[in-house]
Amino acid sequence: MPERRPRLEGKVAIVTGAGSSGPGIGNGKATSVLFAREGAKVLLVDAALDRAEESLVMIREEGGDASVFQADVTKAADCQAMVEAAMERYGRLDILDNNVGISRRGTVVDTSEEDWDHIIAVNLKSMILASGAAIPRMIEGGGGSIINISSIAGLRAHSQTPYTTTKAAVQGLTFSMAGDHGGDNIRVNCIAPGLLHTPMTAPRMDEAMREHRKNSAPLKTEGTAWDVAYAAVFLASDEARWITGVVLPVDAGLTITSPVTYTTMAQQGRF
Ligand SMILES: NC(=O)c1ccc[n+]([C@@H]2O[C@H](COP(=O)([O-])OP(=O)(O)OC[C@H]3O[C@@H](n4cnc5c(N)ncnc54)[C@H](O)[C@@H]3O)[C@@H](O)[C@H]2O)c1
Repeated sequence: MPERRPRLEGKVAIVTGAGSSGPGIGNGKATSVLFAREGAKVLLVDAALDRAEESLVMIREEGGDASVFQADVTKAADCQAMVEAAMERYGRLDILDNNVGISRRGTVVDTSEEDWDHIIAVNLKSMILASGAAIPRMIEGGGGSIINISSIAGLRAHSQTPYTTTKAAVQGLTFSMAGDHGGDNIRVNCIAPGLLHTPMTAPRMDEAMREHRKNSAPLKTEGTAWDVAYAAVFLASDEARWITGVVLPVDAGLTITSPVTYTTMAQQGRF
């Protein structure tokens, strides 16, 4: 058997939101660790530097190559500075993982204008600005891979209208960017994570809710940030060289089920 080469060897990656918002491992942290484990040099970008530094410690303990950069990706100047930092430190840019995102409940009736502006800035504008800064540098290097983190909340009503709206827009943004930049050899794909247990969701969970969520999807296992991170490694790697413009649910099969027929009652033969 030939020796396996790291799947991202020689590549430079930016992960936005590379820390975690609480104790444990979120999507940005897990993705940063796996990118480095697969040989990428990783710029760990976060508005909260101490969070990115926690990811850096994990990567350095494994012998990986990474560094932190403080940026608020809702700001164009910060996104430009982040890309220039990657170029100065590592000389090229191949991968952008647009991970930053926050959740918000509400309807169009009870969500304030300020809250709409905020969630659209954090979840959508951030990806537009970061990609706009990254793409010219990727073109200089001959191409690249951009991964936009959406949610299954962007595929279905999720009783979180502001969140669903931005996460659906991230999917449209992915299609459009993939079409615009395919000729530049830049692939743009989207991951739609399902009901994961991560620092972002943990504060809203108790054991009963975790069990309920786990048993709602065909695979009946609890998802973690590592599940999203492994999908990101694949999409970032040359193994996915012919894949662009896809929305990949990482959700244990939840979104392929029908809520009417796929229920605990139906599974118990009570229909
Ligand atoms: N956890 C889940 O269950 C789940 C499910 C579906 C989708 N997602 C998506 O995954 C992504 C986030 O995952 P995570 O687990 O890494 O979240 P997280 O909340 O643990 O970490 C996100 C990081 O982003 C940073 N951040 C927030 N706003 C920023 C800004 N403006 N500029 C720079 N950094 C900023 C935070 O400081 C934090 O360290 C989001 O896009 C989210 O919508 C998560």
